[in-house]
Amino acid sequence: MQFNPQTYKPIDYRTFILGDQARQGINLKRLNILTEQELKIWEAAQPYMDARNDPGHGEIATILSITFLPYFPKAKREIVVPTTMNHDIGFHGEDPNAWQKAVEAARKAGNLKSLNDDAKRMPHQIKGADMALEIYQEVGYPRQEYRHESTDIIRDHDTRHNATTLSGRVMWDSDYTWRVTLPCVEIYSKKLTPEELIEEAEKNALNNEYPFDLESISKKIARIELANTIYYKFPDQATQALKPNYSQELEIVKKFYSNSA
Ligand SMILES: [Fe+2]
Ligand SMILES: [Fe+2]
Repeated sequence: MQFNPQTYKPIDYRTFILGDQARQGINLKRLNILTEQELKIWEAAQPYMDARNDPGHGEIATILSITFLPYFPKAKREIVVPTTMNHDIGFHGEDPNAWQKAVEAARKAGNLKSLNDDAKRMPHQIKGADMALEIYQEVGYPRQEYRHESTDIIRDHDTRHNATTLSGRVMWDSDYTWRVTLPCVEIYSKKLTPEELIEEAEKNALNNEYPFDLESISKKIARIELANTIYYKFPDQATQALKPNYSQELEIVKKFYSNSA
């Protein structure tokens, strides 16, 4: 499918619920975009969802992965959706706020990329892959032939030492596009100005280099979603902040909210 920015529907934050209910998937379920089997995976994974005190991460990543899928016809939904749902269920450590503290410290040091550290990431990935496999066995989905690809993706989704499959790319892109969305900004970057948010989004999601970059269509969607977040959070400052580099995206978002009001 060709991407047409004019018909793209951004996340509708007017009806989007943030916080603990997002951890349970309230928005995802309301959108009614999951198959019966995907819903079973979600329910099995839900108790472990967003354990780093980042409610909405699993949900938004899942929504984005389903948004991306039509543009990646060679990616397999049977792998992408369960993998995205489960990619972060492996919580390692005792303090659920430890990750937010680490992000804050890294931002103060001006080096958010220092978070891409194997020692910080590996235990979480390994535990998540083991847990995902248990869930797949319990639910009986995805099929056996897809389970190793899924757990391989989970085991390397943050570190990205190995090349991945197209299904893995879609999961990666969903994970990083989360960074430009409203729930992520409200959790990690609440105090930043629109200009600071744009700068951070570019540094940590939009303008990354391989293997931390976004595929070109995912990047187009992420740019619109960044404009969506800024427009929704800062209605009075959005035009000024977005005009230099995101004027087209701003128009798409404005049109979306005015047409569907
Ligand atoms: Fe992760
Ligand atoms: Fe994640």
